[in-house]
Amino acid sequence: MANVNFYATLCPGLEDVAAEEIEKLGGRVIEIRQNKGRVFFEGSRKMIPAINSYSRILERLNVLLYRGRFSDLNEIYSAVKKLDFEFLKRKTFAVRSMRTGVHNFTSVDVARVAGQAVIDSFMESYRERLKVNLNAPDVIVRVEVVDDELFVGVDTTGDDALHKRWWRVYNHPAHLNATIACAMLILAEWNVKKSLIDPMCGSGTIPIEAALMGRNVPNRRSFAYQKLCNSDLGFGESKKKMELYGVEKFRKHLEGAIRNAENAGVADTVTFSQGDATKIEGIYDVIITNPPYGLRIWKKGMIRKLYEKFAEAARDCMHDESRLVVITVEHRIFRDCASKVGLSLLHERFVKYGGLLTKVMVYSLI
Ligand SMILES: C[S@@+](CC[C@H](N)C(=O)[O-])C[C@H]1O[C@@H](n2cnc3c(N)ncnc32)[C@H](O)[C@@H]1O
Repeated sequence: MANVNFYATLCPGLEDVAAEEIEKLGGRVIEIRQNKGRVFFEGSRKMIPAINSYSRILERLNVLLYRGRFSDLNEIYSAVKKLDFEFLKRKTFAVRSMRTGVHNFTSVDVARVAGQAVIDSFMESYRERLKVNLNAPDVIVRVEVVDDELFVGVDTTGDDALHKRWWRVYNHPAHLNATIACAMLILAEWNVKKSLIDPMCGSGTIPIEAALMGRNVPNRRSFAYQKLCNSDLGFGESKKKMELYGVEKFRKHLEGAIRNAENAGVADTVTFSQGDATKIEGIYDVIITNPPYGLRIWKKGMIRKLYEKFAEAARDCMHDESRLVVITVEHRIFRDCASKVGLSLLHERFVKYGGLLTKVMVYSLI
Protein backbone atom coordinates (compact mmCIF):
# COMPACT_ATOMS: atom_id res chain seq x y z
CA MET A 1 0.00 0.00 0.00
CA ALA A 2 1.40 3.41 -0.99
CA ASN A 3 2.50 5.72 1.77
CA VAL A 4 0.49 8.85 2.56
CA ASN A 5 1.82 12.27 3.53
CA PHE A 6 0.47 13.62 6.79
CA TYR A 7 0.79 16.69 8.90
CA ALA A 8 -0.10 16.87 12.53
CA THR A 9 -0.80 19.92 14.63
CA LEU A 10 0.01 20.24 18.32
CA CYS A 11 0.96 22.71 21.07
CA PRO A 12 3.97 24.73 19.87
CA GLY A 13 7.06 23.68 21.82
CA LEU A 14 6.30 19.94 21.91
CA GLU A 15 7.29 19.09 18.32
CA ASP A 16 10.21 16.79 19.24
CA VAL A 17 8.08 14.85 21.75
CA ALA A 18 5.35 14.52 19.10
CA ALA A 19 7.85 13.41 16.45
CA GLU A 20 9.11 10.64 18.72
CA GLU A 21 5.54 9.49 19.36
CA ILE A 22 4.75 9.53 15.61
CA GLU A 23 7.80 7.35 14.89
CA LYS A 24 6.77 4.92 17.65
CA LEU A 25 3.33 4.66 16.02
CA GLY A 26 4.98 3.79 12.69
CA GLY A 27 5.43 7.13 10.90
CA ARG A 28 8.57 8.49 9.22
CA VAL A 29 9.07 12.11 10.22
CA ILE A 30 10.00 14.37 7.30
CA GLU A 31 10.01 17.82 8.84
CA ILE A 32 9.55 19.38 12.25
CA ARG A 33 8.39 23.00 12.36
CA GLN A 34 9.93 23.95 15.68
CA ASN A 35 7.72 26.19 17.85
CA LYS A 36 5.09 26.30 15.09
CA GLY A 37 3.15 23.27 16.33
CA ARG A 38 3.50 21.23 13.14
CA VAL A 39 5.12 17.93 12.22
CA PHE A 40 5.14 16.53 8.66
CA PHE A 41 5.55 12.80 8.18
CA GLU A 42 4.70 9.85 5.96
CA GLY A 43 3.19 6.52 6.76
CA SER A 44 0.55 3.98 5.82
CA ARG A 45 -3.21 4.60 6.02
CA LYS A 46 -3.27 2.24 8.99
CA MET A 47 -1.65 5.02 10.99
CA ILE A 48 -4.82 7.11 10.82
CA PRO A 49 -6.86 5.07 13.34
CA ALA A 50 -3.73 4.28 15.36
CA ILE A 51 -2.75 7.94 15.77
CA ASN A 52 -6.26 9.23 16.41
CA SER A 53 -6.79 6.57 19.05
CA TYR A 54 -3.41 6.45 20.73
CA SER A 55 -1.58 9.72 20.27
CA ARG A 56 -1.20 11.47 23.61
CA ILE A 57 0.56 14.56 22.23
CA LEU A 58 -1.10 15.50 18.93
CA GLU A 59 -4.13 17.75 18.56
CA ARG A 60 -5.12 16.88 15.01
CA LEU A 61 -3.99 14.57 12.19
CA ASN A 62 -4.45 15.69 8.58
CA VAL A 63 -3.69 13.94 5.32
CA LEU A 64 -1.61 16.48 3.41
CA LEU A 65 -3.00 17.20 -0.06
CA TYR A 66 -0.93 20.25 -0.87
CA ARG A 67 1.64 22.63 0.53
CA GLY A 68 3.19 25.55 -1.26
CA ARG A 69 3.79 29.30 -1.33
CA PHE A 70 1.12 31.76 -2.44
CA SER A 71 0.73 35.51 -2.65
CA ASP A 72 -3.02 36.22 -2.80
CA LEU A 73 -6.51 34.70 -2.66
CA ASN A 74 -6.47 33.96 -6.42
CA GLU A 75 -3.45 31.73 -5.96
CA ILE A 76 -5.19 29.92 -3.08
CA TYR A 77 -8.16 29.31 -5.41
CA SER A 78 -5.90 28.00 -8.21
CA ALA A 79 -3.89 25.73 -5.91
CA VAL A 80 -7.02 24.16 -4.39
CA LYS A 81 -8.79 23.83 -7.75
CA LYS A 82 -5.92 21.75 -9.17
CA LEU A 83 -6.41 19.05 -6.50
CA ASP A 84 -8.39 15.86 -7.07
CA PHE A 85 -11.34 15.55 -4.70
CA GLU A 86 -12.56 12.14 -5.85
CA PHE A 87 -12.67 11.05 -2.19
CA LEU A 88 -15.61 13.47 -1.73
CA LYS A 89 -17.91 11.42 -4.04
CA ARG A 90 -21.33 11.00 -2.36
CA LYS A 91 -20.06 12.90 0.69
CA THR A 92 -20.86 16.31 2.15
CA PHE A 93 -17.95 18.55 3.00
CA ALA A 94 -16.95 21.77 4.74
CA VAL A 95 -13.78 23.83 4.56
CA ARG A 96 -12.34 24.88 7.92
CA SER A 97 -9.71 27.57 7.60
CA MET A 98 -7.04 29.03 9.82
CA ARG A 99 -4.76 31.99 9.17
CA THR A 100 -1.69 33.32 10.95
CA GLY A 101 0.50 36.18 9.75
CA VAL A 102 -0.25 39.53 8.12
CA HIS A 103 -2.66 39.40 5.16
CA ASN A 104 -5.22 41.68 3.56
CA PHE A 105 -7.90 38.97 3.84
CA THR A 106 -9.50 37.03 6.68
CA SER A 107 -9.75 33.31 7.39
CA VAL A 108 -13.42 33.54 6.36
CA ASP A 109 -12.25 34.72 2.92
CA VAL A 110 -9.85 31.75 2.76
CA ALA A 111 -12.69 29.32 3.56
CA ARG A 112 -15.02 30.94 0.99
CA VAL A 113 -12.43 30.92 -1.84
CA ALA A 114 -11.15 27.43 -1.06
CA GLY A 115 -14.70 26.05 -0.72
CA GLN A 116 -15.57 27.42 -4.16
CA ALA A 117 -12.39 25.90 -5.60
CA VAL A 118 -13.30 22.45 -4.21
CA ILE A 119 -16.80 22.69 -5.74
CA ASP A 120 -15.45 23.91 -9.12
CA SER A 121 -12.72 21.26 -9.22
CA PHE A 122 -15.20 18.46 -8.48
CA MET A 123 -17.71 19.79 -11.02
CA GLU A 124 -15.03 19.93 -13.72
CA SER A 125 -13.77 16.40 -13.04
CA TYR A 126 -16.98 14.53 -12.10
CA ARG A 127 -19.83 16.70 -13.50
CA GLU A 128 -21.51 16.83 -10.13
CA ARG A 129 -22.10 19.63 -7.62
CA LEU A 130 -20.80 18.78 -4.17
CA LYS A 131 -22.98 19.39 -1.12
CA VAL A 132 -21.66 21.66 1.60
CA ASN A 133 -22.65 20.90 5.18
CA LEU A 134 -21.07 23.39 7.54
CA ASN A 135 -22.37 21.89 10.79
CA ALA A 136 -21.91 18.15 10.39
CA PRO A 137 -19.90 17.45 7.23
CA ASP A 138 -18.80 13.94 6.27
CA VAL A 139 -15.39 15.34 5.42
CA ILE A 140 -13.55 18.41 6.72
CA VAL A 141 -11.07 19.97 4.30
CA ARG A 142 -8.53 22.03 6.27
CA VAL A 143 -7.08 25.05 4.49
CA GLU A 144 -4.43 26.79 6.55
CA VAL A 145 -2.46 29.89 5.74
CA VAL A 146 0.74 30.50 7.68
CA ASP A 147 2.47 33.68 6.47
CA ASP A 148 3.06 32.94 2.75
CA GLU A 149 2.53 29.19 2.97
CA LEU A 150 -0.65 27.33 2.15
CA PHE A 151 -1.52 23.91 3.58
CA VAL A 152 -4.48 21.91 2.32
CA GLY A 153 -5.42 18.71 4.10
CA VAL A 154 -8.16 16.26 4.96
CA ASP A 155 -8.91 16.31 8.65
CA THR A 156 -8.95 12.74 9.98
CA THR A 157 -9.65 13.84 13.56
CA GLY A 158 -12.71 16.07 13.28
CA ASP A 159 -13.86 19.30 14.87
CA ASP A 160 -13.05 18.06 18.38
CA ALA A 161 -9.28 18.13 18.58
CA LEU A 162 -7.53 15.27 20.37
CA HIS A 163 -6.63 17.31 23.46
CA LYS A 164 -10.34 17.33 24.34
CA ARG A 165 -10.43 14.22 26.47
CA TRP A 166 -13.60 12.16 26.79
CA TRP A 167 -13.20 11.60 30.51
CA ARG A 168 -13.40 15.30 31.55
CA VAL A 169 -16.74 15.82 33.29
CA TYR A 170 -15.43 18.38 35.78
CA ASN A 171 -13.94 21.44 34.11
CA HIS A 172 -11.39 23.13 36.37
CA PRO A 173 -11.18 26.84 35.42
CA ALA A 174 -7.43 26.48 34.81
CA HIS A 175 -7.11 22.83 33.77
CA LEU A 176 -3.99 21.76 31.94
CA ASN A 177 -4.20 20.75 28.29
CA ALA A 178 -3.99 16.94 28.49
CA THR A 179 -1.46 16.75 25.63
CA ILE A 180 0.93 18.90 27.67
CA ALA A 181 0.31 16.72 30.75
CA CYS A 182 1.37 13.70 28.66
CA ALA A 183 4.44 15.50 27.31
CA MET A 184 5.45 16.29 30.90
CA LEU A 185 5.08 12.60 31.80
CA ILE A 186 7.34 11.72 28.88
CA LEU A 187 9.91 14.42 29.76
CA ALA A 188 9.95 13.10 33.34
CA GLU A 189 10.68 9.62 31.90
CA TRP A 190 7.72 8.33 33.89
CA ASN A 191 6.67 4.69 33.44
CA VAL A 192 4.24 2.42 35.26
CA LYS A 193 6.92 1.26 37.66
CA LYS A 194 7.56 4.81 38.95
CA SER A 195 5.53 6.45 41.72
CA LEU A 196 4.06 9.81 40.75
CA ILE A 197 2.49 12.70 42.63
CA ASP A 198 0.85 15.89 41.43
CA PRO A 199 0.70 18.01 44.59
CA MET A 200 -1.53 20.74 43.05
CA CYS A 201 -3.64 18.44 40.92
CA GLY A 202 -6.76 20.57 40.34
CA SER A 203 -9.09 18.37 38.29
CA GLY A 204 -6.53 15.55 38.16
CA THR A 205 -5.34 15.81 34.55
CA ILE A 206 -1.75 14.67 35.20
CA PRO A 207 -2.37 11.51 37.30
CA ILE A 208 -5.45 10.56 35.24
CA GLU A 209 -3.48 10.80 31.99
CA ALA A 210 -0.66 8.78 33.59
CA ALA A 211 -3.13 6.03 34.54
CA LEU A 212 -4.62 5.96 31.02
CA MET A 213 -1.19 5.99 29.38
CA GLY A 214 0.04 3.26 31.72
CA ARG A 215 -2.95 1.07 30.86
CA ASN A 216 -2.76 1.86 27.15
CA VAL A 217 -6.34 3.13 27.05
CA PRO A 218 -7.17 4.85 23.72
CA ASN A 219 -7.87 8.57 23.75
CA ARG A 220 -10.57 8.24 21.13
CA ARG A 221 -12.73 5.50 19.78
CA SER A 222 -14.43 7.71 17.21
CA PHE A 223 -12.98 10.30 14.84
CA ALA A 224 -13.71 11.92 11.49
CA TYR A 225 -11.82 9.37 9.34
CA GLN A 226 -14.39 6.70 10.15
CA LYS A 227 -16.87 8.56 7.92
CA LEU A 228 -14.42 8.26 5.04
CA CYS A 229 -13.52 4.66 5.54
CA ASN A 230 -14.51 1.91 7.97
CA SER A 231 -11.63 1.31 10.28
CA ASP A 232 -11.45 -0.99 13.18
CA LEU A 233 -8.61 -1.18 15.58
CA GLY A 234 -8.21 -3.79 18.27
CA PHE A 235 -7.81 -1.98 21.56
CA GLY A 236 -5.21 -3.55 23.81
CA GLU A 237 -5.84 -2.17 27.26
CA SER A 238 -4.03 -3.76 30.16
CA LYS A 239 -4.65 -3.54 33.91
CA LYS A 240 -1.43 -2.43 35.57
CA LYS A 241 -0.65 -1.68 39.18
CA MET A 242 0.53 1.91 39.50
CA GLU A 243 1.33 4.27 42.35
CA LEU A 244 -0.30 7.58 41.41
CA TYR A 245 -1.29 10.41 43.74
CA GLY A 246 -3.11 13.71 43.37
CA VAL A 247 -3.20 16.32 46.13
CA GLU A 248 -5.40 19.41 46.01
CA LYS A 249 -6.08 22.19 48.50
CA PHE A 250 -9.70 22.87 47.59
CA ARG A 251 -12.46 20.33 48.16
CA LYS A 252 -14.44 21.45 45.11
CA HIS A 253 -11.55 20.67 42.74
CA LEU A 254 -10.69 17.49 44.62
CA GLU A 255 -14.24 16.22 44.20
CA GLY A 256 -14.06 17.18 40.51
CA ALA A 257 -10.80 15.24 40.12
CA ILE A 258 -12.40 12.16 41.68
CA ARG A 259 -15.39 12.44 39.33
CA ASN A 260 -13.03 12.76 36.36
CA ALA A 261 -11.05 9.70 37.50
CA GLU A 262 -14.27 7.71 37.95
CA ASN A 263 -15.39 8.66 34.46
CA ALA A 264 -11.97 7.71 33.08
CA GLY A 265 -12.26 4.33 34.81
CA VAL A 266 -9.09 4.90 36.84
CA ALA A 267 -10.54 5.79 40.26
CA ASP A 268 -9.00 2.57 41.61
CA THR A 269 -5.57 3.55 40.28
CA VAL A 270 -5.17 7.19 41.41
CA THR A 271 -5.33 8.13 45.09
CA PHE A 272 -6.62 11.67 45.58
CA SER A 273 -6.47 13.57 48.85
CA GLN A 274 -7.06 17.06 50.15
CA GLY A 275 -3.80 18.63 51.27
CA ASP A 276 -1.16 21.29 50.95
CA ALA A 277 1.57 21.03 48.31
CA THR A 278 3.99 22.84 50.62
CA LYS A 279 3.61 20.06 53.22
CA ILE A 280 3.78 16.89 51.11
CA GLU A 281 5.59 13.93 52.63
CA GLY A 282 7.01 10.65 51.34
CA ILE A 283 9.48 9.86 48.58
CA TYR A 284 8.38 9.82 44.92
CA ASP A 285 10.11 8.87 41.68
CA VAL A 286 8.30 11.62 39.78
CA ILE A 287 6.65 14.87 40.89
CA ILE A 288 4.79 16.71 38.14
CA THR A 289 2.70 19.80 38.69
CA ASN A 290 1.02 22.80 37.17
CA PRO A 291 0.91 25.33 40.03
CA PRO A 292 -1.16 28.53 40.00
CA TYR A 293 0.41 31.21 37.78
CA GLY A 294 -0.95 34.29 39.48
CA LEU A 295 -3.02 35.34 36.49
CA ARG A 296 -6.32 35.50 38.34
CA ILE A 297 -6.60 36.29 42.04
CA TRP A 298 -3.03 35.38 42.98
CA LYS A 299 -0.52 38.21 43.43
CA LYS A 300 3.17 37.82 42.46
CA GLY A 301 4.27 37.90 46.12
CA MET A 302 1.89 35.06 46.97
CA ILE A 303 3.15 33.06 44.00
CA ARG A 304 6.77 33.45 45.10
CA LYS A 305 5.91 32.32 48.64
CA LEU A 306 4.01 29.28 47.35
CA TYR A 307 6.80 28.37 44.88
CA GLU A 308 9.50 28.76 47.56
CA LYS A 309 7.75 26.50 50.04
CA PHE A 310 6.72 24.01 47.37
CA ALA A 311 10.24 23.75 45.91
CA GLU A 312 11.57 22.97 49.39
CA ALA A 313 8.87 20.36 50.12
CA ALA A 314 9.36 18.75 46.68
CA ARG A 315 13.13 18.54 47.17
CA ASP A 316 12.59 16.67 50.46
CA CYS A 317 10.35 14.14 48.66
CA MET A 318 12.96 13.27 46.01
CA HIS A 319 15.74 10.67 45.79
CA ASP A 320 18.80 10.85 43.54
CA GLU A 321 16.95 9.52 40.47
CA SER A 322 13.69 11.47 41.02
CA ARG A 323 12.44 14.05 38.58
CA LEU A 324 10.42 17.19 39.29
CA VAL A 325 8.60 18.68 36.29
CA VAL A 326 6.83 22.03 36.58
CA ILE A 327 4.90 24.09 34.03
CA THR A 328 4.38 27.78 34.73
CA VAL A 329 4.21 31.20 33.15
CA GLU A 330 6.21 32.44 36.16
CA HIS A 331 9.28 30.39 35.19
CA ARG A 332 11.78 32.98 36.39
CA ILE A 333 10.28 32.93 39.88
CA PHE A 334 10.23 29.13 39.96
CA ARG A 335 13.78 28.85 38.65
CA ASP A 336 14.94 31.20 41.37
CA CYS A 337 13.11 29.27 44.13
CA ALA A 338 14.33 25.89 42.84
CA SER A 339 17.96 27.00 42.67
CA LYS A 340 17.75 28.43 46.24
CA VAL A 341 16.82 24.98 47.57
CA GLY A 342 19.59 23.31 45.55
CA LEU A 343 17.55 21.64 42.76
CA SER A 344 19.38 21.14 39.44
CA LEU A 345 17.72 22.25 36.22
CA LEU A 346 18.15 19.46 33.63
CA HIS A 347 16.01 20.82 30.82
CA GLU A 348 13.60 23.65 30.03
CA ARG A 349 11.50 24.65 27.04
CA PHE A 350 8.80 27.11 26.09
CA VAL A 351 5.36 25.68 25.43
CA LYS A 352 2.53 27.83 24.05
CA TYR A 353 -1.04 27.13 24.93
CA GLY A 354 -4.26 29.05 25.25
CA GLY A 355 -2.48 32.29 24.40
CA LEU A 356 0.05 31.76 27.23
CA LEU A 357 3.80 31.34 26.88
CA THR A 358 4.67 28.84 29.58
CA LYS A 359 7.87 27.03 30.40
CA VAL A 360 8.20 23.35 31.22
CA MET A 361 11.18 22.76 33.51
CA VAL A 362 12.69 19.41 34.50
CA TYR A 363 14.69 19.20 37.75
CA SER A 364 16.65 16.57 39.62
CA LEU A 365 18.03 16.55 43.13
CA ILE A 366 21.63 16.46 42.04
C1 LIG B 1 -3.37 25.55 37.62
S1 LIG B 1 -4.33 24.64 38.71
C2 LIG B 1 -3.95 22.98 38.32
C3 LIG B 1 -4.84 22.47 37.26
C4 LIG B 1 -4.67 20.98 37.01
N1 LIG B 1 -3.39 20.67 36.42
C5 LIG B 1 -5.79 20.48 36.11
O1 LIG B 1 -5.52 20.08 34.96
O2 LIG B 1 -6.95 20.58 36.49
C6 LIG B 1 -3.49 24.83 40.23
C7 LIG B 1 -4.20 24.13 41.38
O3 LIG B 1 -3.37 24.24 42.54
C8 LIG B 1 -4.23 24.32 43.67
N2 LIG B 1 -3.41 24.83 44.79
C9 LIG B 1 -3.01 26.09 45.02
N3 LIG B 1 -2.24 26.15 46.12
C10 LIG B 1 -2.16 24.88 46.59
C11 LIG B 1 -1.49 24.30 47.70
N4 LIG B 1 -0.76 25.01 48.54
N5 LIG B 1 -1.62 22.97 47.87
C12 LIG B 1 -2.36 22.21 47.03
N6 LIG B 1 -3.02 22.73 45.98
C13 LIG B 1 -2.91 24.05 45.76
C14 LIG B 1 -5.33 25.23 43.18
O4 LIG B 1 -6.49 25.09 43.97
C15 LIG B 1 -5.53 24.76 41.75
O5 LIG B 1 -6.54 23.79 41.67
